[in-house]
Amino acid sequence: NNNFGDKADYVFKVVLIGDSAVGKSQLLARFAKNEFSNDSKSTIGVEFQTKSLIIDQKTVKAQIWDTAGQERYRAVTSAYYRGALGAMLVYDMTKRQTFDHMTRWLEELRGHADKNIVIMLIGNKCDLTDYRAVPIEDAKEFAEREKLYFMETSALEAINVEKAFLEALTEIY
Ligand code: GTP
Ligand code: MG
Repeated sequence: NNNFGDKADYVFKVVLIGDSAVGKSQLLARFAKNEFSNDSKSTIGVEFQTKSLIIDQKTVKAQIWDTAGQERYRAVTSAYYRGALGAMLVYDMTKRQTFDHMTRWLEELRGHADKNIVIMLIGNKCDLTDYRAVPIEDAKEFAEREKLYFMETSALEAINVEKAFLEALTEIY
């Protein structure tokens, strides 16, 4: 069991955002349960998972919220962002459009979230190396300009998933 009852010293809410099918739900499944599904269904409304970790000898309960990338399935936006201390801004590195939409997601995030929110830009599906459509330089440049943390991940192959969440949570802490 990843959760230590109610004994957490801190509870940190982190939200996942980005276009549909970039892999938000599978990143969460990988992080929270070390699971992955190839036929993941589109998220409808809001779901969340928690995972407790030890940071600096304190128990930190990460409460990760996941919503639909598709507009028509999304829940009330302000409630989703309320109280969030971190955000994972996810694109699919094999689909340029999902990266180009990052500016829009960032705008929505900055319009609704706390101004001190920790934001991590995530280029997911880095296992699909032959299909890369977003050069790492473009992502790094964008992250630098917007003052975001950045990492490429693979939910499928469990690359950098734990690391990305841990870095965001440590930064919040
Ligand atoms: P919405 O809920 O509609 O917003 O989509 P989502 O962002 O939650 O995407 P989801 O996690 O459902 O994944 C979409 C598809 O991408 C599924 O078929 C996943 O199996 C696949 N997928 C997710 N992560 C990876 C990855 O790291 N590598 C590869 N190759 N496929 C992935
Ligand atoms: Mg989903």
